[in-house]
Amino acid sequence: EEIAELRHRLLAWYDVNHRILPWRKNPHSKRSDRDAGPPPPEDKSDFAYCVWVSEVMLQQTRVETVKAYYTRWMEAYPTLADLAEADLERVNELWAGLGYYRRARFLLEGARHVRDKCGGRMPGEVEELHKIPGIGMYTASAIASIAFGRRAGVVDGNVIRVLSRLRALAGDPRAPANTKLHWRLSNSVVDADRPGCFNQALMELGATVCTPKAPKCGECPARAQCLALRRQEEWGADSEGGP
Ligand code: ADE
Repeated sequence: EEIAELRHRLLAWYDVNHRILPWRKNPHSKRSDRDAGPPPPEDKSDFAYCVWVSEVMLQQTRVETVKAYYTRWMEAYPTLADLAEADLERVNELWAGLGYYRRARFLLEGARHVRDKCGGRMPGEVEELHKIPGIGMYTASAIASIAFGRRAGVVDGNVIRVLSRLRALAGDPRAPANTKLHWRLSNSVVDADRPGCFNQALMELGATVCTPKAPKCGECPARAQCLALRRQEEWGADSEGGP
């Protein structure tokens, strides 16, 4: 089946090609590499906190820049409980340069919400995560899939571009009218066994191979399933016989 083949290829590619990034490891865990799959139950909440911080930082800033900010943040607030006790001024200092200070304040408010309303543990369901101040659908789905292994798709700029090309979607991929379609597509394509790795594979593919300009289709693990590439090749074949 074609979707099964697509999942298999993306995951196999991710296993070999994923970047080792500080938020892909749980500093509280003895396991060295989280990309093998979601963590054991006892430290899912800790890992969810790490995923949360990294995803919020990554929403506005490039991976290379986020690395240093993320590391400093985790030194200052190693756990959700530490963050909940923080003061806003210090949080804003650590955020300086990342922009959109509202997000730093939301992280602090969110940590206090989890402390006061969730018994100090990060919830594992998308709907519950979405109730935390500052956690939108993207962040809720990223945390649920990466930290808790829930089968939830994610939609961000990279994922929209990759899925739009794979399925050769007509129309402007960035038009708000297409948002529901992208979520439906993302939720239907995500792998059931390794949703966190699958989602990060889509993000990683969009960042490194399926780039906005000059995508490296020759290196793409999904080229055999890509409708945009297939059409381009058909048109290319047509034009060879033309003037
Ligand atoms: N951009 C947003 N989230 C990301 C992640 N988990 N890995 C790499 N790039 C990302």
